[in-house]
Amino acid sequence: MTDAPANSTDSLTVRDNRTGQEYDIPITDGTINAKDLGQIRTSDDLPGLATYDPGFVNTASCRSAVTYIDGDKGILEYRGYPIEQLAESSNFLEVAYLLINGSLPSRAEYDAWVHEITYHTFVHENVKSFMEGFRYDAHPMGMLMASVGALSTFYPDARNISDADNRHMQMVRMIAKMPTLGAWSFRHAQGKPFIYPDNDLGYTANFLSMLFKMSEQKFEADPRLVKALDVLFILHADHEQNCSTNAVRSVGSSQVDPYSAVAAGVGALYGPLHGGANEAVLRMLRRIGKKENIPSFIEGVKAGNEKLMGFGHRVYKNFDPRATIIKKACDDVFEVTGVNPLLEIAKELEKIALEDEYFIKRKLYPNVDFYSGLIYEAFQFPPEMFTVMFAIGRTPGWLAQWSELIQDKDQKIARPKQIYTGDRELTFTPAAQRWR
Ligand code: CMC
Repeated sequence: MTDAPANSTDSLTVRDNRTGQEYDIPITDGTINAKDLGQIRTSDDLPGLATYDPGFVNTASCRSAVTYIDGDKGILEYRGYPIEQLAESSNFLEVAYLLINGSLPSRAEYDAWVHEITYHTFVHENVKSFMEGFRYDAHPMGMLMASVGALSTFYPDARNISDADNRHMQMVRMIAKMPTLGAWSFRHAQGKPFIYPDNDLGYTANFLSMLFKMSEQKFEADPRLVKALDVLFILHADHEQNCSTNAVRSVGSSQVDPYSAVAAGVGALYGPLHGGANEAVLRMLRRIGKKENIPSFIEGVKAGNEKLMGFGHRVYKNFDPRATIIKKACDDVFEVTGVNPLLEIAKELEKIALEDEYFIKRKLYPNVDFYSGLIYEAFQFPPEMFTVMFAIGRTPGWLAQWSELIQDKDQKIARPKQIYTGDRELTFTPAAQRWR
């Protein structure tokens, strides 16, 4: 039994009905420390009480000062700044600086940061031959995951994670090189030559150049498209303890280098329930094909045959503020590219779903992925590339969270408990006897 905390109202009194014993467990920041439950036991030689929480639906895995979300109110803030203000008035590299360093840069700090990122966009030539080795139809997320992981072999010093300067250098390299790797994954699938970075261009304009440049001297993207893509990167830059960030933290907790940790994050993001949802939305809209098919599609969702991709969120139960900003960005992009005919189906689907009891009862609203795929398609990206865009945007967030983890004295190697449900103490019979 623990002593009652100083302010005993900030505690939880638990009575174990198996033993009749009572325990006072301190409450800090709205949580109890799971370790405190360990003292609740029926006998000294049996394990103490633990919690069972698949998917971490009600378990805090860390203390973090990076991103704040209030899912009920639809609030998202990076280091305290509302996402709406950052999307409107900042740019992706400034937001990356903010996430990683914790405060906005001075003019000199911003210039130095942009310079550093710009001059680390090139990758070793061997990365190019490595990427050329993928099959012609390799999924770009698979290529990205493998090539980010491979960077750890080009920068073996990255394992020196306790050195702050070294950490900074690897974070700069990763933010700088991600668009190069992402663009080259795209070019590989198209059978087109890889385009080297153009350091005269800004971060997002350079990315578009590496994606689309052919024989022209200089690729000049429409500034409205550059701005829209930059906003999309900002919207994806961090989202507290989502699946891929948790993967980065979990792998990073073994004190491996950050390239290996981020490669794990790219893998987690690839899945259709996470970043892969934008690709799935586009495929779903194409399959629906026309507005008349929406009611039967919705019936299928309600019958549990499939999910309405791009709807629902573990945290947002009212609206996803990123989806609201993206809807507006759609208009800006379509002004340049012409309207995507799938937009009409998406809008009608949203309208019908939002009025339907099934979705209302479960608090299912459009998430960031519902409209982002439509914008990416307007850029003429094939659906396989959508999650790559998400990964480029999410990189500063992964790194900010990784850097916070490395400096957090509370953190230990991630190692959840399990409830064992298998057999025990069987007697092994060698194969030669079993197969007689
Ligand atoms: N379509 C139909 N039903 C749904 C959906 C959906 N998109 N999402 C949740 N539900 C239902 C679910 O079947 C369950 O119903 P019931 O209570 O009858 O069993 C209920 O709503 C609660 O859902 P859940 O699966 O327990 O919720 P979760 O918090 O575990 O999952 C989610 C969240 C995002 C994985 C889920 O909503 C989903 O699969 N959505 C579709 C995929 C998607 O759009 N993912 C992108 C998320 S946003 C970008 C990102 O952060 O990666």
